[in-house]
Formats: sequence, structure tokens, C-alpha cells
Amino acid sequence: MAYAIELQNITKRFPGVIANDQVTILVGEGEIHGLIGENGAGKSTIMNILYGLTQADEGIVRIFGKEQFIASPNDAIRLGIGMIHQHFMLMPNQTVLRNIILGSAPRKGPVIDEKKARIQIEKIMEKYCMQVNLDAVVSQISVGEKQKVEIIKALYREVRILILDEPTAVLTPAETDALIETMRKLKEQGCTIVFITHKLKEVLAATDRVTVMRKGVVTGFGETKDMNVRKLSELIVGREVNFDIPFGAYCPGETLLELSGVSTAPRGGRMPVKEINLKVKRGEIVGVAGVEGNGQSDLIEVIAGLIAADRGGITLCEKDISKLSIRQRRLNGLSHIPEDRLKTGTSTVCSISENLLLNKYFLTPFSRHGIFNHRHIKQHSKLLCDKFLVKTPDPSYELKTLSGGNMQKVVFAREFDTEPSLMIAAQPTRGVDIGAIEYIHGKLAELRDSGKGILLISAELDEIMALSDRILVMYEGEIVAEFHRGEADEYEIGAYMLGAKRQVAHSG
Ligand SMILES: Nc1ncnc2c1ncn2[C@@H]1O[C@H](COP(=O)(O)OP(=O)(O)OP(=O)(O)O)[C@@H](O)[C@H]1O
Ligand SMILES: [Mg+2]
Repeated sequence: MAYAIELQNITKRFPGVIANDQVTILVGEGEIHGLIGENGAGKSTIMNILYGLTQADEGIVRIFGKEQFIASPNDAIRLGIGMIHQHFMLMPNQTVLRNIILGSAPRKGPVIDEKKARIQIEKIMEKYCMQVNLDAVVSQISVGEKQKVEIIKALYREVRILILDEPTAVLTPAETDALIETMRKLKEQGCTIVFITHKLKEVLAATDRVTVMRKGVVTGFGETKDMNVRKLSELIVGREVNFDIPFGAYCPGETLLELSGVSTAPRGGRMPVKEINLKVKRGEIVGVAGVEGNGQSDLIEVIAGLIAADRGGITLCEKDISKLSIRQRRLNGLSHIPEDRLKTGTSTVCSISENLLLNKYFLTPFSRHGIFNHRHIKQHSKLLCDKFLVKTPDPSYELKTLSGGNMQKVVFAREFDTEPSLMIAAQPTRGVDIGAIEYIHGKLAELRDSGKGILLISAELDEIMALSDRILVMYEGEIVAEFHRGEADEYEIGAYMLGAKRQVAHSG
């Protein structure tokens, strides 16, 4: 078989970790190859080596049969390799069009020929059925749209090999289906694809062959048709995974969080919320389902205090919190896992330990009269990393040395550790491996069973349905339906998510 990609015995060391230990990955020409494995297994690292973002300490890379030394992404692009990164690399203040053509713009003399570029891009968008507004500024578009921009950018460079590092982590189910369709179209055109994902359904649906990694080594390899969910999960985590969440009985208590008639003002193309009435009681998980961009971001941020409400009231344990600062809301028992861990959830240049403390560094025993107690801080972060499965040799390392899923676990650990009365959990398991999802879901169930409340916002309808005692559906900034656990299936909920149906009255 002719291989498009041969990575032979690749070894890559970072301080304290061997990210890739003699890894061999072979990808046939024109195949869709799944690369899967737990957080920190070394998937992004080996793909970064292939794309020239970092270099291997040992090993050989062959592209279409020829040995290559890929010193930079420029070399990779020249070889026809494109990569969509786990964390997007777009310029936020530029338009979509400018981002797509950056570095490969057609020119008319000394000036960039934007007209010609626009025609070329429109052709690509039509061919692959992917529409985005080319004149929108990147900072104003949704994550799903940013994803499309990244893909169009790669297609614009006429890639022959496309690496997709967890492209579906931020997509809705419908967008994921569309992406898989795009991958199939690319394959028909002879493109070779490496697809990294934690979602086993997608692996089984989209790939021809699959390589599984764990702790820097390859633990499995084979034809996708010979695999199933159980087999793959065992190869990934080395044991059987329990997908059933261990809930106690549903006995909701008094109201913890209440929103009455909350509206936000429209800002920068974002969907505001309109007249939201919502309650989360003790001992319940309330899930908010909806296609991304239907007001979920404003809903989360208005409760957490990142934006102000235009109208309406917000109470936590019967106390009006609508005028309180973010910190005051937190001190009153609110915790918040933000939907975008890099934008509002973490600081990548701070250490893991500092990130674990962002919501409590000013409290004793972490500091007293402005002086940090480093011994206590160190013990505390070591404890949290162990408890929440954050894989790092040392919590004093910068957050950016962590793999994507491990960053997510840092955010979860920090927010869970404050023993909140009410947790806003937005995309709590985004980018997290199946073993850690099992753990995080177990922790959310534990929080609920101990009489706390959780407002869960997730693009994963499966996750909403598995965890929620009540489900609210958001459409165009409003809550259009409410269901109790088991009252509606995914198709029914899907119809409300798309605006095809709407309940007349719901209690919120
Ligand atoms: N720049 C770096 N400095 C130090 N360590 C690093 C660096 N980049 C990655 N690592 C470490 O290498 C290991 C592999 O990380 P990698 O990002 O490849 O994992 P991954 O399989 O992509 O995980 P995830 O599913 O969470 O994205 C991890 O232990 C990570 O902490
Ligand atoms: Mg990764």
C-alpha cells in the first residue's frame, strides 16, 4: 500500500515527559485515519511534528514515500500538509477573508487582489457546502464558524494531507455531520485525512483505519470495521468504561438560582437573551439544550456577572445578585466553568498551580495580608492535580505545557473545589477523554446528590440528556420548551432546537 504519511519510531521528549516514545503511524493515501487516545497521550504532539511546529528528537518522517525534514509549517504547507489546530490560530481583529488568505493572497502588482480571492473562496464554500460571512470580523463569530474558517483556509491552500485536531469538540451534532460529509468529499478528491477526536461514535462513522495511543505509545491499530465502542474504549483507557452515571433519586429542594424576566442588550452580533425565566433547585441538574449561538453565551455570562442584565432579576439563595461583581457572586456560592477555556477560563502564561487558584488566591490559607503561602499552595495544587487526573510532572509548570483535555480538567478542578451551591457548567467535558468524562460526570452527579444545583450548558445533546433532571431548550434567545428526564427523545428536542416547534407555556 502506498502511504501518504509514514511516521517511523518518533520520539519526542519534554521536560519530565516523553510525549512520544518510538511512535509509528502509517496512513494510506486517500484514507481517513482516526488518531485517538486519552488526554496527554501524545496525539497533538506527533501531529505538530508532522506540521513542523515542533521537531522530533528521533525518528523518520516520510511524505508520499519520500523522507522529509519538516522544519516549519512553511515546509509542511509546501508538501501539501494542512492542519486545523485544537485551539484556533486565527487573528481575532481581522475579517474572515483576510484570515483565509493570510500568507497566500493573490496579488495584482504590489496590492492584494481581494476580489480574486473572494471568488476563489466562494467556489470552495459552494463545493463543500460550507457558508461563512467573509466580511465578519473573526472575534465576533461563533466557535463553530471559526472552525469552518480554519477548514476553508486549509482548502484554499490546496492541501493533499489534512490534519484535524479535535475539530468536533466545539461543533454541534448537525455541524459535526456536515464536517464528516466534508471529510468524505475531500477523500473522494484524493485527500488524506488524520482525524483526532475523543468521540468514539465519530471514529466509527467517519474513519477507515485507526491508531490508538496511550502515555506516549501506540496501544492499538487496525481497520475501523473491526472495532466497536467497547474495544476502542479499552484500548484508550486500558479498562472497561462505565457510561452509566451513578445518580441518586431525584428529590429537588428549594430554589437556588432564579432568573425572572432577564434580558440582555444586543452586542456585536451576539444573540441576546429575551425575558428568561428559569429556576435551578437544590439537588437538580438543569440542562440547557440549543444550537450554539442561540443566546447560551449571554445566559451564562449574565448569571456569572461578565455582562450586565438589561432588564430582570437574578437571585441566588433568595439574594439579589444581579448588581454584584463577579467575585462577589462567587463568594456567594456560584462557580462557573466557562465555555471557552482559553478565552475566559485560564491564563496560559501562568502556572497550573496559579490557574487552580484564580478564584481563591486572595483567601486564607492561600494568602494572608497579600503574602502568599507557597507551601500551602503547592500542596493544594498537587492534591487537586492528583484528584482530578491532571497529567503533569509538576504543577509549577506553565498551563500551556498541558494537553488540551488536561487544561479542561484544571478548570473543572478549580470550580469544583470551591464547593459551590450552584455551578454553571458550560461545556464541562469539552476535549476531555472518555475516562475523564466518566469521572467528571460522576462528580457532577455527586454535587447534585449533595443538594447543590447545576446549570449545564452543552453542545452535546447526548451529555444534556444523560445528566439533566430537567431540560430547557433555547432558541433565538428564548426558552421555548421544558422537559423532565425521559419526557422527550433527541428528535423531539432537536425539533425545538431548530425552531420547528415551541411550547406555549413552561415554568422555566
Ligand atoms: N510545550 C510543551 N512543554 C512541555 N510538555 C508538553 C508540551 N507540549 C506537550 N507536552 C506534554 O506532552 C504530553 C502529550 O501532550 P499532547 O498535547 O500531545 O496530548 P494529546 O494526546 O493531544 O492530549 P489531549 O487529548 O488532551 O489534547 C503531555 O503530557 C503534555 O503535558
Ligand atoms: Mg491534543
